Amino acid sequence: MTTKRRPWVVGLCALFAAATILASNVLLSSQTRTERIPKNAQEILGRCSSLRQAAGPPPSFAKREVSDRFEPGTNATLIRNARIWTGVDNGTQVLHGDVLLDRGVVKAVGKVDRRLYAPLENLTVVDAKGAWVTPGLVDLHSHVGLLPLPSMRATFDVNSPHGPVVPWLRAIDGFNTHDEAFQLGIAGGVTSVQALPGSGNAIGGQAFMMKLRRTSDRSPSSMILEPPHSINGTSVDSLLPPRWRHMKQACGENIKWYGTRMDTVWAFRQAYNEARKVKNAQDDFCMKAEQGLWGSIEGQAFPDDYRWEMLVDVLRGRVKISHHCYEAVDFDGIVRLTNEFQFPIALFHHASEAYLVPDLLKRTWGGTPAIAIFATNHRYKRESYRGSEFAPRILADNDIRVVMKTDHPVINERYLLNEAQQAHYYGLSPHLALAAVTSTAATAVGMSHRIGVLRTGADADVVLWDSHPLQLGATPVKVWIDGVQQLPEDVQVGVGKEELEWKKTPGVPDWGKERRETVKWEGLPPLKGRTEEGTVVFTNVGRVWAKDEEGDIEELLRADVDSEMATVVVQKGVLVCAGSSLSCLHNLKSSSPPEIVDLQGGTIAPGLMTYGSPLGMEEIPSEPSTGNGELYDPFSGDVPKIMGDTAGVTRAVDALQFGTRDALLSYYRAGVTVATSSLSKTTLFVGPNSIIPGLSATFRTGATNALEGGALVKEVTALHVTIGRPHPIGGRNGRGPGVSVSTEIAALRRLLLEGESKDTETGRWFRKAAEGTIPLVIDVSSADIMASLLKLKEYIEEARGTTMRIVFSHATEAHLLAQKIAKARVGVILIPSRPFPNVWDDRRILPGPPLTNDTTLVKLMNHGVTVAIGAPEGWQAVNTRWDLTWAALESNGRIDEQQAYALASTNLEKLLNVRIPKDKADLVAYTGGSALSMSSKVAAIVSPERGMVEFVQ
Ligand SMILES: *[C@@H]1O[C@H](CO)[C@@H](O)[C@H](O)[C@H]1NC(C)=O
Ligand SMILES: *[C@@H]1O[C@H](CO)[C@@H](O)[C@H](O)[C@H]1NC(C)=O
Ligand SMILES: *[C@@H]1O[C@H](CO)[C@@H](O)[C@H](O)[C@H]1NC(C)=O
Ligand SMILES: *[C@@H]1O[C@H](CO)[C@@H](O)[C@H](O)[C@H]1NC(C)=O
Ligand SMILES: *[C@@H]1O[C@H](CO)[C@@H](O)[C@H](O)[C@H]1NC(C)=O
Repeated sequence: MTTKRRPWVVGLCALFAAATILASNVLLSSQTRTERIPKNAQEILGRCSSLRQAAGPPPSFAKREVSDRFEPGTNATLIRNARIWTGVDNGTQVLHGDVLLDRGVVKAVGKVDRRLYAPLENLTVVDAKGAWVTPGLVDLHSHVGLLPLPSMRATFDVNSPHGPVVPWLRAIDGFNTHDEAFQLGIAGGVTSVQALPGSGNAIGGQAFMMKLRRTSDRSPSSMILEPPHSINGTSVDSLLPPRWRHMKQACGENIKWYGTRMDTVWAFRQAYNEARKVKNAQDDFCMKAEQGLWGSIEGQAFPDDYRWEMLVDVLRGRVKISHHCYEAVDFDGIVRLTNEFQFPIALFHHASEAYLVPDLLKRTWGGTPAIAIFATNHRYKRESYRGSEFAPRILADNDIRVVMKTDHPVINERYLLNEAQQAHYYGLSPHLALAAVTSTAATAVGMSHRIGVLRTGADADVVLWDSHPLQLGATPVKVWIDGVQQLPEDVQVGVGKEELEWKKTPGVPDWGKERRETVKWEGLPPLKGRTEEGTVVFTNVGRVWAKDEEGDIEELLRADVDSEMATVVVQKGVLVCAGSSLSCLHNLKSSSPPEIVDLQGGTIAPGLMTYGSPLGMEEIPSEPSTGNGELYDPFSGDVPKIMGDTAGVTRAVDALQFGTRDALLSYYRAGVTVATSSLSKTTLFVGPNSIIPGLSATFRTGATNALEGGALVKEVTALHVTIGRPHPIGGRNGRGPGVSVSTEIAALRRLLLEGESKDTETGRWFRKAAEGTIPLVIDVSSADIMASLLKLKEYIEEARGTTMRIVFSHATEAHLLAQKIAKARVGVILIPSRPFPNVWDDRRILPGPPLTNDTTLVKLMNHGVTVAIGAPEGWQAVNTRWDLTWAALESNGRIDEQQAYALASTNLEKLLNVRIPKDKADLVAYTGGSALSMSSKVAAIVSPERGMVEFVQ
C-alpha cells in the first residue's frame, strides 16, 4: 500500500471533523511522525471509531414525523375517549383521552391538541367510548414464520443440524410469509414478535424483531422491525449508529443431541474464545491506527471473520441475547461464561428455576437479564419440573424484570395476553403483568423507542380492547400496526361486557402462603389437603350449584337473587342445608362445634372433569421413565405374540399413577375432581403416539392410590382410536411418515364388523363399541375424515342392527359438518377448546371473534350437538375453569355460565358414559367469587362418597 502522503492528509483532516475528535487528533499527531498513512486510513479510522458506538436509536428518533414502515395511503386515525395504558413508568401510567396516529407514528397521547389533527386530510375518528387502549403486544419468544401453520414437513426451518454453534445463521432466511399465525396473533392483539431460531443449538443464530402485519411488499425483509444495518452485508456506513441485533442461545436438554451439558458449555467457550481473538485483533489494530502507528499494521486488512462477526458484536455489547435456559446448573454455567467473556444477556427464556436463584442471575455480567416465562405451562420436561405459576411474582419481588411469552406454536401466538392474565391471577401486579407483554418486553430487546409503549414518536401499534386487558377473554375490537387497522369491521366483539365491571382490573386471590411454600420446597411444595369428617359450615356463600337426581347441574341458590349471602351446612361430606343462616343453623345438630369457613361471596359447585391429556399416565411428558412407555404399533405388525391380540389393546387403568403434580394441581387449584385418560398422547412435533391407544379409565384426581375408596370411577371407560393424515414431522411414534388414512379406516371397518374373535381384547372391545355398549372415541380433526366416519357409522349400524356411541374428540373442523354430526347423534369433545390450525387436518378453523362471529362451540351447540371441551396436555387441566370462561365470553352471550360449566362436567360425563350421581359427586367450594372467575380460589372439596370435606392446605 504505497501512498502519496501530503495531498490527502489535508483532505482527510477536514473529512474527519465529522468523525470523532480522537480520530482527528490521531491524524494531527501522525503528520508529525513519519508513518506511512494508507489510502484507506479514513475508512479504517471511521470503522475503528464506530466500534465504540453504543447500539440504539439516534437521539433525534423521538422527533420523527414519519415511520420508515409507513404504508403510503394509510389514513391518520384519532382514537377518542379511551383509557390509555401507555406502558410508561413500568406500566403505572394511565391516561384518559385520545391517541393520534399519523404516518405510522404515534403523534400524541392523552389530551390531544385539536390543532394537531384538524388539518389532517381523511382523518378516521374512532370513539373508544371509555374502553381500554394499550400498545400492541410484544412476544419475545415466537417461532412464527419459522414453523408456519399449518405445519408441513417442508417448512420445519427452526434448528440447524450443522453443529451446536451457528451464530452466522439468520432466522429471516427461514421466515415463511404464509403463516396462519400472523392473523391469529393479531386477533389476540399481538403486533410484534421476536422470531427466534429453535433451541436445538447452543448458539442457534440471529433472531429478528418482526411485525405481524402483512406488507404491500410481501417479503420477509419488509416485516423486520428496524433491521440491523448489516442485514445487506457487513460493510456498513460507520457513521450510522448501530441498531440492536438479536440472537438465540440455548443450553440444557435441547442441545443434548450434540453432547452433554459439559459439551455445550465448552462449545460456547470455544466459540467466544474465537470471537474474542477477532475482537482483540480489531482493538489492537485500531489502537495502532488511532495512535498513527500505520507502519506496524502496514499491508494488514482490518481483522475480521465472517463466521464470528456476530459474536464479536456480542462482545461489544450490541446484541440482545435471548438465552433459553431452565435450571440452576445451566444458569450457573452461562453466568460464568458471561463473566469470563464479559458480555450481557438480555433475557433468559423458559427459566423454570430463575425464581429460585435470583442472586445467581444478578451475577450475570452487564446486569440482570429479564426473565421470559410461561405462566402455567410447566413440568413438560425434567428441566421445567420445578417451574411455578408463582415465579412471575417472586421474580418481580426480587426486582427482576418479568416477560411473558408464548414460544408459539407451543402456546398459540393469539393467547400471549392470557399468559399475562394468568401471571396476574397468581400474584403479579396488574401494571407489571401488562408490561410483561408490552413495555418490559420491548425494553429488554432494545425496542422501547418504537414498540410496547404509547408515547409520541413510537410506532402506531395500538389495540382497542373490549374489556380491561387482564380480564379473561379480553378481545381486541381494533388493532393498528404502523397505523393500519388489521381486523375485519363486521364482526361482533364484546357482547355482554357492557357493564362497568369489565373495565376494571380483575380482583385476584392472595397466594402469599403458597408462594412462600413454593420457594421453601424449591418448586415442589407438598400438595395435600386437611380432611374434616364432622360438620362444616360455609358462610357468605354467593352461589350454590349441585347435581339433581338425574345428575344434571341445577342452581340451588344465588345470593344476588336471595338478597343476602347464604350459609351452607355439610355433614360427613354431604350438603344438608343451603339457605339463610337462620334456617340452616337453627336445626344444626353436631356433637362437636362445626368448622366455620367464610367463602367471601364464593361459590359451591360440582367438581369439574377433564379429558384429553395423559393426566395420571405420566409425571413428566418427555421423560419416558415417568410414564407408561411406548405402545406397540399393530400397523407395523410389531405387537408381540405374547399378547395374543392383533391390535394390542391395552387398558389405561393398568398404568394409572396417582399423585402426579398435574393431577393434584388440577384437583386442589382448579376443582377438577375427575379425569378420564386414555393411553393416547399427542405431541406437537411428533403427533399422536398410537392409532389404537386402547381403553381409557376414569379416576379421581385427588386420590392417593387405585385401591382407595372412590379412586377409580370407571375402570374401562371408552375405546379410543386415532384417525388422521400422517403427521408432517414426526409420524406415528416418530417412525416414518405414518399409516395412511385409508388403512386406518379400513382397519376400523374390519374390527367393527367383528373382524377379530371376541375372545381377544381387540375382538371383545370393538364388538362392544359396535354394539354401542361402550363409547368409541375417535380422535379426528378433518371434516372430510369425519364425513367418512359418519358413513362408516351408518354402514356398521345397518350391518349389525346396532346404535353406536361415537364421540369425535379433537374435532377442529367439526363446525363444517355440524348439522350432519348432530343428525348422526355423534358427540364432540373439542381439544383444545379454542381452535389451533396445527396441521393440515386442522386447517379450517372457525377462529371466533374478532375474526368471525361464530365459534366452533356455538355452531355445534346451535345444531344440537352434545359438546364438551378437553385439554391436550396434562398441565392444561388446571386451566379448565378459564377455558370455560373463554367459551362463554367468546360466544358473545350465546353460551351462559351454566352451559359453559356443563362443557367440562355433565356433558363430558354424558359423552363418555360416566354419569356421576349426586351421592358420589364431589362439590368444590371457592372463596371470593364464581367458580369461573379470576377472583376465586379453591378452598375445599366436599366429598359425599368419602364422607368428608377436604380443605386445601
Ligand atoms: C421500573 O422498575 C424497575 C425495577 O423494579 C426500577 O428499577 C425502575 O426504577 C422502575 N422505573 C420507573 C420509571 O418506575
Ligand atoms: C385522502 O383520500 C383520498 C381518497 O382515498 C386520497 O386520494 C388522498 O390521497 C388521501 N389523502 C391523504 C393525505 O392521504
Ligand atoms: C382514507 O379516507 C378516505 C376518505 O375518508 C377514504 O375514501 C379512503 O378509503 C380511506 N383509505 C383507507 C385506506 O382507509
Ligand atoms: C438493504 O437493501 C435494500 C435494497 O436492496 C434497502 O431497501 C434496505 O433499506 C437495506 N436495508 C438496510 C437495513 O440497510
Ligand atoms: C356478525 O354479526 C353482526 C350482528 O349480528 C352482523 O351485523 C354482521 O354482519 C356479522 N358479520 C359477519 C361476518 O357475519
